[in-house]
Amino acid sequence: MTALRLDIIRLGVRTRRAGETLALVDAVDLTLQAGEVLALVGASGSGKSLTCAAALDVLPPGTWREGGTVALEGVTRTGAELRGRHVATILQNPRSAFNPVRTMRAHAEETLRALGVERARWDGLVASALSDAGLADGSAGEAERILSLHPFEMSGGMLQRMMIALALLTGAPFLFADEPTTDLDLVVQREILDLLDRLKASRGLGILLVTHDMGVVARLADRVAVMEAGRIVETGPVMDLFHRPSHSATRRLVHAHLSLYGLEPAS
Ligand SMILES: Nc1ncnc2c1ncn2[C@@H]1O[C@H](COP(=O)(O)OP(=O)(O)OP(=O)(O)O)[C@@H](O)[C@H]1O
Ligand SMILES: [Mg+2]
Repeated sequence: MTALRLDIIRLGVRTRRAGETLALVDAVDLTLQAGEVLALVGASGSGKSLTCAAALDVLPPGTWREGGTVALEGVTRTGAELRGRHVATILQNPRSAFNPVRTMRAHAEETLRALGVERARWDGLVASALSDAGLADGSAGEAERILSLHPFEMSGGMLQRMMIALALLTGAPFLFADEPTTDLDLVVQREILDLLDRLKASRGLGILLVTHDMGVVARLADRVAVMEAGRIVETGPVMDLFHRPSHSATRRLVHAHLSLYGLEPAS
């Protein structure tokens, strides 16, 4: 059986600056398969976040998508069709994604209602999502306790796990994770990354992981795409990129990573 695949084809994002149209993302091609982690790396401002946003049609004001298609199993889909149903997202700052006056139960119910899931299945789905996200031990009591909490009663790490639980609730086979651990302390970062790795295996998630931490890439990614100035300049299996980086942008990232550990690059 072939894995479910999502193709981003010739995706472009433009803005207007000083009266001129400027390409922020230019003809980006990416393929993501279920059951793999594709890391999208590159310097700050290279276009990683806009690529994710454009693929799901959630670009910020002042930018627009120009050209490009996103296809699921070869069928072109709009961002609205993909969002929540086929592609879930988690972001850098989970707190901003939650309504401060609503409990976790309200957030979970909103997700299930939006998807049209029948009520009889809600409790079971929520319990398994919380347990798979490492928020509850699978017992009803622990799940109830988590569901009664408001965002301010939870740590950043717990909120990121809750974002992941909500993503799991949707049953979407793909997850876009834009710097999902940047705002967390090192111990929690590691836990969340381990969790994503486990979900890749246990739920067969295909994860597009945006990061500029090559340590994260080395640990988690199966394949890597490198962006520079709005373009993909290199794509390949993670080992090839570390051992035989062919583009200067990739070499810079790898060398910076190795020098952090006092190691010499291979080339
Ligand atoms: N709303 C906007 N209007 C105009 N230009 C924008 C807007 N958002 C981003 N940009 C520009 O688009 C480029 C790419 O931005 P993007 O946020 O995708 O970078 P990134 O690779 O995610 O960077 P980082 O690693 O810092 O998150 C940058 O030059 C940025 O200044
Ligand atoms: Mg970004």
